[in-house]
Amino acid sequence: MAAKKKPTDAIALLKQDHEKVRGLLGQLESASGARRAKLLTQVEQELKIHTQVEEEIFYPAYREAARKKEDKKLYFEAVQEHHVVDLVMPEMNDGDTPEELKAKAKVLKDLVEHHAGEEEKEMFPRARKALDRDELRELGERIEMRKEELGG
Ligand SMILES: [Fe+2]
Ligand SMILES: [Fe+2]
Repeated sequence: MAAKKKPTDAIALLKQDHEKVRGLLGQLESASGARRAKLLTQVEQELKIHTQVEEEIFYPAYREAARKKEDKKLYFEAVQEHHVVDLVMPEMNDGDTPEELKAKAKVLKDLVEHHAGEEEKEMFPRARKALDRDELRELGERIEMRKEELGG
């Protein structure tokens, strides 16, 4: 019998993504030229897939399970922060000077770190209370499958 892959819970998967993006953004800040362009493409791809699986799978489950007003408020803030990331991302383009690119990379990094930090400190602990372990695993499986479909 083939060994079945241990199911991973949704929160652990999303945190893994955060770590990856944090690492890439850290490198992006000090990179230049072709390397910066490559890193930027990677960050863009990672963020696109991550925010999409959150919005399609994790956030709706969280919103459904959230009972308190404060819990729901975090959901709406998170969606809006994704939107701001979408706005900032295309701001970086080839016509920018190195100083401009550096500044924009810094702003993007701060934005993503704030958002990921809030999810990890506020939303995820609340989600762990609102959803049971099986639900989180099921969400994790759906996230993994969707990420594969999206090329992540
Ligand atoms: Fe998010
Ligand atoms: Fe996230």
